[in-house]
Amino acid sequence: MKPVELIKLPIKMEMELFEKKFKDSMQSNVPLLNRITYYIIRRKGKQMRPMFVFLVAKMVSDGGFDERTYRGASVVELIHTATLVHDDVVDDSNRRRGFFSINALWKNKIAVLVGDFLLSKGLLLSIDNEDFDLLKLISIAVREMSEGELLQIEKARKLDISEDIYFEIIRQKTATLIAACCGIGAASVGATEETVQQMRKFGEYIGIAFQIKDDLFDYSEEKIGKPTGIDIKEQKMTLPLIYTLNNCSSKEKGWIINSVKKYNRDKVRVKEVISFVKNQGGIEYTISKMNEYKNKALSILEQFPDSPYKNSLKTMIDYVVERKI
Ligand code: IPE
Ligand code: IPE
Ligand code: MG
Ligand code: MG
Repeated sequence: MKPVELIKLPIKMEMELFEKKFKDSMQSNVPLLNRITYYIIRRKGKQMRPMFVFLVAKMVSDGGFDERTYRGASVVELIHTATLVHDDVVDDSNRRRGFFSINALWKNKIAVLVGDFLLSKGLLLSIDNEDFDLLKLISIAVREMSEGELLQIEKARKLDISEDIYFEIIRQKTATLIAACCGIGAASVGATEETVQQMRKFGEYIGIAFQIKDDLFDYSEEKIGKPTGIDIKEQKMTLPLIYTLNNCSSKEKGWIINSVKKYNRDKVRVKEVISFVKNQGGIEYTISKMNEYKNKALSILEQFPDSPYKNSLKTMIDYVVERKI
C-alpha cells in the first residue's frame, strides 16, 4: 500500500466526506469562479492538511468528532489553496500539481481575486458557524504566512539571509499553517488549551521539516508536478545554499552571490551553482536539519498513548521527509 493510503486508513470515511464538503465550500454565483474552482478541485493536491486535522482530532479524543472538525478541515484546505494560487503569482510559476497554474491559464489579475475569494470563503465558514476558537487559530496562520512571504522577498532582494532567518521564514510561510491544522484538530474536539498548544508545536516542527523537503526538491531533477531549479532564479536562498555560503572560501562566496545577483536567469550558471552546493555537502547538511525537526515532532507524539491515529501520524512524519512529490 502507498504511504498516503496507509496514513488515510483510520480516517478513510472522514476524508471521503471531507471531499464533498470541501467542494461545496467553494460555491459561488459567478460562472467564471465556478469554472476555476471546478478546475482546482479536479487537480487536487495531497490533502495533507485535512489529514492532520482529522488524525489529531481523533488521537486526542479517542475517535469521536462532529461537524466542527469537518469545518476545520475545509477551512485549512481553503486557506492552503488560496495561498498556493497567490504563491504562483508571487513566484511567477506556471505549473502546479502537474498542470498549469491558475495564473498561467487565467492570468495574474484573476488569480489574485480567486485567492482572495477562497480566503474569504475559509474565514466565513468559521464565522457563520461561530467557530471563533478555530477562526483565531487560522487567522494567526494567515497573518504569519503573509509576513513570511514578505520577509522572504525582503531577504531575496538584499541577499543577506542567515540560517536563523531562513528558519523564521519557513516557520511563518509554511509551518504556521500546519501548526494551525494540528491545533484546530485538537480544538475542534474540545481538547484543553495545553493540548492545543502542544499539537500546534507538533505541527510547527513537522511543517518546518515539510518546507525543508520542498526546498530540497528544488535541487533535484525529479518530476514533482511543479518546476524545480527556480529558487535561485527567483533569488530565493534556501538552506543548501545558505550552508554552502557559510562553508566556502570568500572567493567562492563572491562567485555564488554574484551568480544569484546577476546571473540568476542564466540556466548554465544556475546549474553550476547547484553542482557546487552539492559538492560542498549542502544537501547532506540540509537533510540532517530536516531530520532534527522530524525527531522533535516525533518526541511530542510519543507523549500520547498508542492508537491507530498516532500510528498514522508517525507514518505521516516519515512520509513528509521521504515523499517523492
Ligand atoms: C505546497 O504544499 C506548498 C508548500 C508549503 C511547500 P503541498 O505540497 O502540501 O501542496 P499540495 O496541496 O499537495 O499540492
Ligand atoms: C510555499 O512556498 C508555499 C506557501 C507557503 C504559500 P514555495 O513557493 O516555496 O512553495 P512551492 O514550491 O511553490 O509549492
Ligand atoms: Mg513562494
Ligand atoms: Mg512557489
